[in-house]
Amino acid sequence: MTNVTDQDRVVIFDTTLRDGEQSPGATMTHNEKLEIAELLDEMGVDIIEAGFPIASEGDFRAVSEIAERSKNSRICGLARANFADIDRCWEAVKHARKNRIHTFIGTSPLHRAIPNLTMDEMAEKIHETVSHARNLCENVQWSPMDATRTEWDYLCRVIEIAIRAGATTINIPDTVGYTAPMESADLIKWLIETVPGADEVVFATHCHNDLGMATANSLAAVAGGARQIECTINGLGERAGNTALEEVVMALRTRNDIMPWHTGIDTTKIMHISRRVATVAGFPVQFNKAIVGKNAFAHESGIHQDGMLKNRENFEIMRPEDIGLSGTSLPLGKHSGRAALRDKLETLGYEVGDNQLKDIFVRFKDLADRKKEVFDDDLIALMTLDEADDYLQLVSMKVTCGTGGQAESTVELEMDGEDVIATEHGDGPVDATFRAIRAIYPNKAHLQLYQVHAVTEGTDAQATVSVRLEEDGMIATGQSANTDTVVASAKAYIHALNRLIMRREKAGPGADTREISYKDLT
Ligand code: KIV
Ligand code: ZN
Repeated sequence: MTNVTDQDRVVIFDTTLRDGEQSPGATMTHNEKLEIAELLDEMGVDIIEAGFPIASEGDFRAVSEIAERSKNSRICGLARANFADIDRCWEAVKHARKNRIHTFIGTSPLHRAIPNLTMDEMAEKIHETVSHARNLCENVQWSPMDATRTEWDYLCRVIEIAIRAGATTINIPDTVGYTAPMESADLIKWLIETVPGADEVVFATHCHNDLGMATANSLAAVAGGARQIECTINGLGERAGNTALEEVVMALRTRNDIMPWHTGIDTTKIMHISRRVATVAGFPVQFNKAIVGKNAFAHESGIHQDGMLKNRENFEIMRPEDIGLSGTSLPLGKHSGRAALRDKLETLGYEVGDNQLKDIFVRFKDLADRKKEVFDDDLIALMTLDEADDYLQLVSMKVTCGTGGQAESTVELEMDGEDVIATEHGDGPVDATFRAIRAIYPNKAHLQLYQVHAVTEGTDAQATVSVRLEEDGMIATGQSANTDTVVASAKAYIHALNRLIMRREKAGPGADTREISYKDLT
């Protein structure tokens, strides 16, 4: 096998910024992509799939900059089976210290029908495109999309062609989340035993979670001989998502007795990156999500608490510290100073400069005045900062609610440097507030999602609000936290509007702001 020296080492290929970001509503800004790439690099991800360079100017810029800044991870870009895609991909990844071109084509009967190619024509196309990619880059990954619904003998034939054309990694995608663990293991094992040249390449597994089996299918594929797992943070991805990085990594670590393979991931960085991805993508993690859910290490029932006190191993198979959760967490209060705040932020994984600390300290004091105890989760919510140079900024708001559901909201916004006020009525305080914001900044964005979560417990708990807006096919999410749910709602709505405005500006006047999805193009 090329690339891998240790037979028990599983390569972690993270596609949060490509397959994850493709999921409707998960769009990240350029700076957010850079931040997540840096965190992935720091946590020891072997390969970062940073985007799909031909899909948009934004994707190209993000992949290029991530490639230039990468330290240890190999940077990969996605390309369809044509020369223009592959050339554009190479342009974006070529500056990385280590790079990869990932090219793919749908090989199942259903996917072959899309470009209307015969089996022979498709085989020829695979040969041409993989050879072209290999002439540009010495590290080429090839994927037969929808592999798990492709005839096994045809799969065997096209993989052999890709290997002969120079592919160094062969990825077997379960594009629609259709396979099951035994089949996943059998298919990889059979391919490795059958395809001529299979021992010269790394086999990868790329699973989707439509039947809730992505993690199990990925681990089964490793048992069958795959040595690369493709995954995303929090399992982010289209439909039911992709294999969750934290799940496969912690499963391999916790059950190494029966799954004797290891990764290079620093697991103590898991919790921080999970929170950052949830925040920037606007996809909150479900409370009972394995490994990173809020309840994953909470033991509330009397029996469990008693058992935990006697011996934590009674109910805990992993230690919270292993994923970067601090075991004991002392809340801060209004008398806590800057040093204590900086110290706490560092234990939560945030490194802040002096200026940023100054700004956060003001927000922290403001929160501590309203809330007796400021918990870790409150601080994490506080780190979701509004940008100082946003086009729309909330100056003040006043809401009056009636018993019949009708409410009145007066909102004052600073819009491009000028203060504007509007008063509107609505069906409840949030509706009235959103109407007032729309009166100040008229727009045709459609509210796709509105979600409220309590960050901590108690009636003075902070609420985090997520808002997702859609305008002409372009999606933007916004988030905010406040002890007042209506204020958090207003700020989250304004945050989403600012992101829409920013993306419109980037695209230029009259531009079609819809980004191309690889599925639209296949
Ligand atoms: O799910 C899939 O098939 C993909 C390919 C592009 C690898 O994401
Ligand atoms: Zn996928």
